[in-house]
Amino acid sequence: MTSPRTTNLSLVDTDPAELAVDAIVIGVHSQPGGQDATSGLAGTLLLASGAESIAAAFDGKLTETLALLGATGGPGEVIKLATLGTVTAPVVAAVGLGPEPSGAAPAPETLRRAAGAAIRALAGAPRVALALPLPDDADASAELRAVAEGALLGGYRFAGYKTRPQPTRREPVAEVLIAVPDAGDAGAQAEVVRAEAVASAVRLTRDWVNTAPNELRPPSFADAVADAARDAGLGVEVLDETALAAGGYGGIVAVGQGSEAPPRLVKLTYTPQGGGNGKRVALVGKGITFDTGGISIKPAQGMWEMKSDMGGAAAVGAAMLAIAALKPAVAVSAYLPMAENMPSGTSYRPGDVITMFNGKRVEVLNTDAEGRMVLGDAIARACADGTDYLFETSTLTGGQVVALGKRVAGVMGTPELCERVQAVGDAVGEPAWPMPLPEDVRKGMESDVADISQVNAGMDRAGHMLQGGVFLREFVTDDVAWAHIDIAGPSYHSGEPTGYWTKGGTGVPVRTLVQLVEDVAANG
Ligand code: BES
Ligand code: MN
Ligand code: ZN
Repeated sequence: MTSPRTTNLSLVDTDPAELAVDAIVIGVHSQPGGQDATSGLAGTLLLASGAESIAAAFDGKLTETLALLGATGGPGEVIKLATLGTVTAPVVAAVGLGPEPSGAAPAPETLRRAAGAAIRALAGAPRVALALPLPDDADASAELRAVAEGALLGGYRFAGYKTRPQPTRREPVAEVLIAVPDAGDAGAQAEVVRAEAVASAVRLTRDWVNTAPNELRPPSFADAVADAARDAGLGVEVLDETALAAGGYGGIVAVGQGSEAPPRLVKLTYTPQGGGNGKRVALVGKGITFDTGGISIKPAQGMWEMKSDMGGAAAVGAAMLAIAALKPAVAVSAYLPMAENMPSGTSYRPGDVITMFNGKRVEVLNTDAEGRMVLGDAIARACADGTDYLFETSTLTGGQVVALGKRVAGVMGTPELCERVQAVGDAVGEPAWPMPLPEDVRKGMESDVADISQVNAGMDRAGHMLQGGVFLREFVTDDVAWAHIDIAGPSYHSGEPTGYWTKGGTGVPVRTLVQLVEDVAANG
């Protein structure tokens, strides 16, 4: 199941007032505290740069009119105005950017969210131009990239399963023009190409996450990833349940054995031309296509959201497609362990002792801690294949959501690499926060019978998210720098659409993974 159509993106450098589009988007800043002299409304509006020619066509009355219509310039606000012939476009949409920044242009993430909010609000308009404030110096790459990504992601809609077309439904914007100082600039055009590759990966991740779990089970998920990867020219290896059992992947086999739909391990490889810079990156993503909890079954309330428990694998698989398109100078291998965690007569059970791919024995205490079982094997396999950096991402713990909320991922692992994930996450608008791997948490996971318990031996939830990181560390070899990125919160958005986030899968952390790989390609 894929989204209906993709948004077409191009650059323009002609006067926005003369663009033949269905709507033109401008930015407005809020100026809290002041009182507008004309309207008497609290707070004053300030048109952002990029809107000059539109403002001129309104004879200086644009700000006042927007304020009368209730515009405050607050982030995410979109106020539409009929232009009645003042400019070529029949509609001006003013998107709020918050207070005017002290620098030249708003932060990239502010622009990304504004572009997304505007494109969502303009659904139904086939052709939209964005005249948002971009720095006019040559180095506006981060800002332009952000506007392009925001537009492409705000224009995402999952196809869904409705049997009849909805009469009130408005089609996503089909064509977006971004007003820039020089549309012929090679750097600017390269940013659009990059944004398209990255946004397609984010959109595909959202599609996979949003697909109903009866339609996306390990074998069909593995096929979908393998087909897309082959089309992109990546190397593909798929281990089925027989190969997994023969290969000693005890964790993946244990979690998968309760379901009629058997488990898979998909390995994708990207080989750079000329051998790259000699570094190797491994990406690992949790692919639980549905997490009932298994024998340690979850409560019914909210269980449907566990169709998103393959968000890590989806992000890793889709990021590999973007990597194949962007061709960074570094070797990348991806590992996607896939299983459906079901309760049945063949399920693994609390008390089971499982021998993992690296030979370590794990005592199962809660079958709902299944992610670390499949990931332990996949991480150990990645290390056995050989890698310098390992980034693993998973919807691993409810504890992540408790500790950091729905926006900020938790990162654990080699401290330098965690800082790198945090820095890259900040740069791409996917915040992540480093968390520790305390010794006492590891002590609490000592098993009476095996090498380690899967969770705290008394099922104490103290340091819940950290227990996941501490467990996964057991499967990383000493020579590998690693980072575990827990995305339980930020990978899925159950609230109303906001910014470039639609309901459901968000595509986090695709942008982080792609940029991390590019960063290793450039800087080692
Ligand atoms: N997939 C869940 C974690 C999760 C929770 C993701 C909420 C997204 C939103 C994971 O497999 C799980 O069940 N974790 C348990 C671990 C516990 C049994 C040690 C949890 O978080 O409670
Ligand atoms: Mn679980
Ligand atoms: Zn899970």
